[in-house]
Amino acid sequence: MDSRDSPDGLEAHESDAPQFGIYIHWPFCLSKCPYCDFNSHVRRAAIDEDRFVRAFAAEIATTAARAPDRTVSTIFFGGGTPSLMQPATVGGILDAVARHWRVAPEVEITLEANPTSVEASRFRGYRAAGVNRVSLGVQALDDRVLKELGRQHTAQEAIEAVCVARSAFERYSFDLIYARPQQTPAEWADELKAALREAGEHLSLYQLTIEPETPFAALHAAGKLGVPDDDTARALYDTTQEICAAHGLPAYEISNHAQPGAECRHNLVYWRMHEYAGIGPGAHGRLDIDGDRHATATEKRPESWLTRVELKGHGLITDEVLTREETADEFLLMGLRLAEGIDPERYAALAGRPLDPARVAALRENGLVETTPAGRLRVSLPGFPVLDAVVADLAA
Ligand SMILES: C[S@@+](CC[C@H](N)C(=O)[O-])C[C@H]1O[C@@H](n2cnc3c(N)ncnc32)[C@H](O)[C@@H]1O
Ligand code: SF4
Repeated sequence: MDSRDSPDGLEAHESDAPQFGIYIHWPFCLSKCPYCDFNSHVRRAAIDEDRFVRAFAAEIATTAARAPDRTVSTIFFGGGTPSLMQPATVGGILDAVARHWRVAPEVEITLEANPTSVEASRFRGYRAAGVNRVSLGVQALDDRVLKELGRQHTAQEAIEAVCVARSAFERYSFDLIYARPQQTPAEWADELKAALREAGEHLSLYQLTIEPETPFAALHAAGKLGVPDDDTARALYDTTQEICAAHGLPAYEISNHAQPGAECRHNLVYWRMHEYAGIGPGAHGRLDIDGDRHATATEKRPESWLTRVELKGHGLITDEVLTREETADEFLLMGLRLAEGIDPERYAALAGRPLDPARVAALRENGLVETTPAGRLRVSLPGFPVLDAVVADLAA
């Protein structure tokens, strides 16, 4: 048993029921954070949200015609900064979803929000539009660090936004970034404990990644931004696991912590390899059509996406049928991020061959993978920091 196991020894297991998620991308931000390489754009002129709602509705209609008869179990507004949208825009998009698909009565509808006071003032409007879960990008609880990260809010403002979220929504989560320049495990432990005092059922804790072609990458290359060495990164990771588990929020995924049962169901759709539609500029999707798994992606630039959708009813620039091998590799890549691990038989069915027993045995001997009592294969806690290497080894 490790800290990710439930105290009663019962294993989390995959739901057999097929889940269908919808990802909606809102591609605008007030400013660009220097570490971020998500598809986000800053515009000086006001955004014509009505025009965007019409385009989102058109792309939803086209996608539903290709993938009809689904029941929507989760919807996720991601960005960019979806909390810059007017609540009526969110409501208009949700209405379009409901016009084209059945929506499950217990649907989870999440919206990513930046924790400024202006954005928090819209939370009740989002709730009225149908959003029932919010995920806030708090990032740090130290004003100096928030400034370095290029954030538009203070720590106090973020905590106030968390309070508004708590009163407006049934469910909320927030994100922090750790393994930041010069951060020590002791400092991070204090910050994480302070965050846990504000946390509800779910927290996302991301190690800072230096993404190519960001201002942070340029600073790093110039020797002006030191990131923790491997040993410190490892200690920061271990500290995170210990403190969160002791607080009742074990990791159910490499960077995501929740009380059992309070996991983000939308993200589980990705990690458990269910089906999801990607709507909006730069959105990715996976659709199962006539026995083929399609990987879709749309045009990233917001204005070009709009023009394409207005002309053709969709902004797709990629629509590839994945091979058996590619589907099985993706299953490993996604499923091994989860504490519940993967079902080796599902892998064998997807790949047309089982996992190589010699490779599994070698990884097990090195303490990097383990088999759960239910026969699932998962990456051990010591294996998580080298997850990519484990996946590459098993997929080879
Ligand atoms: C795409 S952002 C959208 C959320 C929202 N715009 C915000 O910034 O709060 C989703 C999350 O990804 C994480 N993230 C983005 N870039 C990252 C990086 N380079 N390293 C680690 N985490 C990152 C942040 O924690 C952020 O909250
Ligand atoms: S981290 Fe969030 S607010 Fe900052 S640029 Fe990326 S998407 Fe926008």
